[in-house]
Amino acid sequence: MSNDNIVWHQASVSHNERVERVGHQPVILWYTGLSGSGKSTIANAVDRKLFEMGCHTYLLDGDNVRHGLNKDLGFGDADRVENIRRITEVANLFVDAGLIVGTAFISPFKADRAQARELAGERFVEVFVDTPLAVCEQRDPKGLYKKARAGDIPHFTGISSPYEAPESPEVHLRTAEMSVEQAAEQVVNYLRDKRII
Ligand code: ADX
Repeated sequence: MSNDNIVWHQASVSHNERVERVGHQPVILWYTGLSGSGKSTIANAVDRKLFEMGCHTYLLDGDNVRHGLNKDLGFGDADRVENIRRITEVANLFVDAGLIVGTAFISPFKADRAQARELAGERFVEVFVDTPLAVCEQRDPKGLYKKARAGDIPHFTGISSPYEAPESPEVHLRTAEMSVEQAAEQVVNYLRDKRII
């Protein structure tokens, strides 16, 4: 599609003015991990902590976003790529607005996360919710692994569709060895160490 007739408008309130007002750096906390790994739970725990500390935050959650913005998308490779592309764009708008935005999506493909990182630059914080497949499958909070094993869900991540784990995430949460509270604390500590908050 040609973009010849679309002109970029300069905002009258600048990004720096917004950042100054909120009093912390805006970043994307990009949670990635298998279904049932605890992304949403940990992201919510972090969000609550940051909110209580007075940070301006928002959380984009996989299942919720797929009910609205991305309800036209399925789980084939092309749709997952488009899912993450849209999330990346939306997350960057929140960053532009000065917020700490959490994104909790499986985001199984390295290339898509790399693209998100490229767009967000130093504002990108990859949080690997590292829960072994066997643990996710045992938890099976939504009963989806059972269905996937029975062949009732095609392209299920970890079973019939790949999950490409991050190699050098900013935050690595080994959830089998820690509580939700400890995991959330590790994320918040990272933000403190880097003087983001
Ligand atoms: S992503 O791969 O495109 O990043 P996303 O995080 O939005 O996935 O959605 C994953 C959630 O959708 C899972 O937690 C699960 O509840 C549900 N789901 C339904 N079908 C699938 C599938 N084939 N593979 C993975 N998750 C699925």
